[in-house]
Amino acid sequence: MDHTELIEKYICCPYDYAKLLIDWHSPNINGKLCCPECMRSWSIMDGIISIMPDYYLEKRKFEKDTDFEDSLSEIYMRDAQAKKYEEILSHRRDIIEIKTTMRELDVTSSDTVLELGVGTGRTLQYSDQCKLVIGCDFSFESLLELKAKGLKNVIAVQADATRLPFQSERIDKILTVELFHHIPSQGARRQHLSECNRILRSNGELLMSGVYNFTIRERLSDIKMIYTKNDQHGGADGKMGYHTSNTIYYYNFDIRELKAEAELYFHVLGAFGFMVDIGPVGRAMEKVMGAYRADCLWQRTKIGHWFGKNLLIKMRKSLN
Ligand SMILES: C[S@@+](CC[C@H](N)C(=O)[O-])C[C@H]1O[C@@H](n2cnc3c(N)ncnc32)[C@H](O)[C@@H]1O
Ligand SMILES: [Zn+2]
Repeated sequence: MDHTELIEKYICCPYDYAKLLIDWHSPNINGKLCCPECMRSWSIMDGIISIMPDYYLEKRKFEKDTDFEDSLSEIYMRDAQAKKYEEILSHRRDIIEIKTTMRELDVTSSDTVLELGVGTGRTLQYSDQCKLVIGCDFSFESLLELKAKGLKNVIAVQADATRLPFQSERIDKILTVELFHHIPSQGARRQHLSECNRILRSNGELLMSGVYNFTIRERLSDIKMIYTKNDQHGGADGKMGYHTSNTIYYYNFDIRELKAEAELYFHVLGAFGFMVDIGPVGRAMEKVMGAYRADCLWQRTKIGHWFGKNLLIKMRKSLN
């Protein structure tokens, strides 16, 4: 699908959902987009369709509810680390996380998939098995890395996951990997879920994977007040904080509160913990069985809930 067709079929103004007008400077590579309703304009640069909210374009607070400072500081950091991002992650994470996520996403050749917070496209192995993937992130540099991979079936869109420039009820599946816990407030996280609900077709699915788990170990650390003494971890209960760089916000969920948030907008099909870390016993088993198979043993048990570093939750858009 070329960019003109994609814009016509899937894209709209993130403020009033009007269809956008296109003015190409060079087709599919550089151009301007304009909303005939609110008159906002955006760009297409290096083949990346960029439809960011006002806070990003104006670099100042426009909307009362926008957690724009945390978002801007994450964008700067993600842009800065884009070239090295995939090197930072562990082999164990890649093996367990990607296999588990692909298994649950379960794409078919007729699916249009939107991956939000797609970053450099680390998890896009499934792109050739579905009709189209829209890879969306608010870090332009990360999307440039994604594009450099030359994946055929993927179109990159720079947008904020809480203000989505996509037409309603057009998408079959939404995937987010390690995104939700970085959205900087409960209000913004709910806006993100509500937007996902709006753009999914009825019965469409949202797979949210890699949401930090507030594990037993962290609860124990919390009791010892390690978190509250550490500047990098802001919240009084240690559940929210910043990456050590102090520029990327995160929130530590536990599975019950994650489910409760999801149920505000979706029918929850399943939830479990993965990347289970049960110390030397677990590592010995991983050596014998392989990391993914060993992890699967615990994923759907209470052990997965308590010792899984990450959480995965699968939701379906409820029929109203
Ligand atoms: C931990 S990284 C994960 C990247 C990729 N999903 C992966 O697993 O390799 C989080 C990604 O989410 C993006 N992100 C965070 N908040 C976002 C938001 N509100 N809108 C769009 N992207 C966001 C970041 O730029 C970053 O690329
Ligand atoms: Zn508009």
